[in-house]
Amino acid sequence: MTRRSTLCYAFLVVGGILFGTVAVAAEDEVAVKPFYTPKGADTCLKCHDEDSALPVYAISKTKHAQPADGRTPFAGLQCEACHGPGAEHAVFVQPGEKQAPIGTFGKNGSMTVSQQNQVCLDCHRGQERLAWQSSAHERNGVVCVSCHQIHIAHDPVLATRSQPDVCYQCHSKARSEFLKPSKHPVRAGKMACGDCHQVHGSETAALLKQPTVNDTCYTCHAEKRGPLLWEHAPVTEDCRICHFAHGSVQPTLLKKRAPVLCQQCHSQFGHPSIPRSASGLPGNNPSVFLLSGNCTNCHAQVHGSNHPSGAKLMR
Ligand code: HEC
Ligand code: HEC
Ligand code: HEC
Ligand code: HEC
Ligand code: HEC
Ligand code: HEC
Ligand code: HEC
Ligand code: HEC
Ligand code: HEC
Ligand code: HEC
Repeated sequence: MTRRSTLCYAFLVVGGILFGTVAVAAEDEVAVKPFYTPKGADTCLKCHDEDSALPVYAISKTKHAQPADGRTPFAGLQCEACHGPGAEHAVFVQPGEKQAPIGTFGKNGSMTVSQQNQVCLDCHRGQERLAWQSSAHERNGVVCVSCHQIHIAHDPVLATRSQPDVCYQCHSKARSEFLKPSKHPVRAGKMACGDCHQVHGSETAALLKQPTVNDTCYTCHAEKRGPLLWEHAPVTEDCRICHFAHGSVQPTLLKKRAPVLCQQCHSQFGHPSIPRSASGLPGNNPSVFLLSGNCTNCHAQVHGSNHPSGAKLMR
């Protein structure tokens, strides 16, 4: 800082204390700070009432509009805690004149992506969002309010039933996966994307809630976790070797049907599982192992077995 500006700064501080912040505006050496309105929301609501083109009352039904809770915007700068200083904007103008600008959010908002996110992160830095920076969403310019709606009594992304539609705006592939015949009951409203994903950022590639795919699955399918007496190697490795996570055209979210599913790893000749005759040649006397249908008719414990003689995953 130069000597002059230090002096100015001292003057401004004293001036500010003595004459109120208005005195600051005169000095051109220091970037002029825009002002907050003295009365906050009361000022804004003079124009943004229910009859206006941009009504905002619904916010009063949200957790943000709780003046009694010292942590909320309404206990402090109120509307301007998010929109930024609005004194210049909140002036009645002559017909035909334009209102001075004020900070706005969203894709075409006047604030940059990082400015928008910073507003929210200033208050919401908690555990859940520690990994937000450099998460797939942050890196791709998604803002908090791409998913969250502020001026609405019930933010749709927070409710199990309405959350998926928020995500489908950008993830149409997921929508089509959950329309497949076998799927996790997302469309039925019994679970939502947030049951498996931590969308604010996580250590895993697909923003999963738990450190691995299997740990994520075990949160609900705990019986598959083991430890089991007879484990089936691919199961402990990664459920996705055999299952899709979202939806599948095969039953039980399977990637392929048995026997093909199993024969990716188990030789068809281990015990006969291709149509062939007793002489070992292809013919019209197919193997009992196929006649019985699916490998899982006999090897029912495909996820592993706790039975003393369950080594072959049959009981
Ligand atoms: C004197 C009337 C008036 C007051 C007071 C007022 N506004 Fe506005 N505001 C308007 C009008 C009119 C528009 C529409 C401007 C336009 O379309 O160009 C507007 C637009 C906005 C917008 C959208 C801006 C945009 O570019 O899309 C926001 C956000 C906003 N106001 C917030 C506030 C906040 C916060 C306050 C209180 C600090 C406030 N307003 C006080 C009249 C007012
Ligand atoms: C917690 C942050 C927050 C607070 C507090 C807040 N807003 Fe907003 N406001 C937003 C966001 C974000 C949007 C963008 C639309 C959305 O996501 O709901 C918005 C949209 C608007 C709009 C519509 C213009 C647009 O860009 O769509 C107006 C007008 C507005 N706010 C005025 C106000 C007024 C007046 C208050 C106080 C009564 C207020 N806001 C309080 C975050 C906030
Ligand atoms: C001045 C601090 C402050 C700012 C700025 C702020 N919030 Fe909040 N927000 C809070 C507080 C406090 C709560 C209530 C938390 C609670 O009840 O545990 C809350 C609650 C929420 C909730 C949960 C609502 C619910 O119904 O459970 C969401 C989502 C949220 N904020 C998102 C945002 C987003 C997005 C922004 C930026 C546009 C933002 N907040 C800006 C303080 C703030
Ligand atoms: C990709 C969509 C998405 C984005 C982007 C997003 N959120 Fe969320 N947010 C959610 C979902 C979904 C929930 C519900 C909790 C869950 O299912 O994990 C949630 C819950 C919340 C909550 C309430 C519960 C809690 O975790 O305390 C707050 C506060 C919140 N988000 C703040 C933010 C902030 C701040 C940002 C930006 C840094 C942000 N969110 C960005 C989807 C999103
Ligand atoms: C505004 C658009 C947008 C919204 C809304 C949105 N996302 Fe995303 N999401 C993206 C972008 C962009 C990426 C990064 C590019 C990619 O991988 O597709 C991403 C990445 C992801 C990833 C990680 C993909 C990977 O391969 O690592 C997951 C998981 C995800 N989003 C889930 C969700 C969920 C769940 C919701 C709803 C709560 C949601 N998203 C809402 C745009 C969005
Ligand atoms: C049962 C847990 C579960 C649920 C519920 C779930 N996901 Fe996923 N999702 C996963 C797993 C596991 C992966 C990693 C899959 C992979 O790598 O093959 C994934 C991958 C993704 C990806 C990145 C890879 C891709 O396919 O593009 C996106 C985006 C995604 N999920 C979005 C969503 C959305 C949106 C919802 C809600 C409509 C949702 N997920 C619900 C478990 C789930
Ligand atoms: C949030 C809880 C939850 C998580 C996490 C979860 N599931 Fe599920 N899963 C369910 C529910 C609920 C059902 C449906 C049960 C029913 O319809 O009876 C289900 C069903 C299934 C089915 C049988 C589908 C069918 O059509 O019969 C498979 C396979 C499955 N899940 C695999 C997985 C895998 C793999 C993961 C990890 C990527 C996973 N699940 C994570 C809750 C969960
Ligand atoms: C080697 C392939 C394979 C792997 C790996 C695998 N599964 Fe399965 N899973 C199957 C088959 C095959 C079925 C259908 C069983 C049947 O039709 O009797 C199935 C069915 C299911 C079902 C529905 C029926 C039941 O047993 O509850 C769930 C849930 C399930 N798997 C979860 C998981 C989870 C969680 C993982 C990872 C820990 C996993 N699977 C790993 C092959 C596999
Ligand atoms: C990704 C490869 C893979 C897939 C797919 C797979 N398995 Fe396995 N399976 C293994 C491995 C590895 C072992 C352990 C082999 C060992 O210990 O010698 C094993 C062991 C077995 C065993 C016990 C064998 C023994 O010698 O004790 C049976 C039975 C079995 N699998 C059946 C199945 C069935 C049925 C399916 C289809 C639903 C299937 N497997 C799919 C890799 C796979
Ligand atoms: C009619 C019942 C039946 C069907 C169907 C069946 N198996 Fe078996 N499988 C057995 C029996 C019994 C054994 C034990 C043989 C032994 O202990 O020597 C066995 C053993 C195995 C083994 C252990 C290695 C070995 O050769 O001993 C594997 C791997 C295996 N089966 C995979 C499969 C696959 C993959 C399928 C589907 C293509 C399948 N099985 C279908 C009854 C069946």
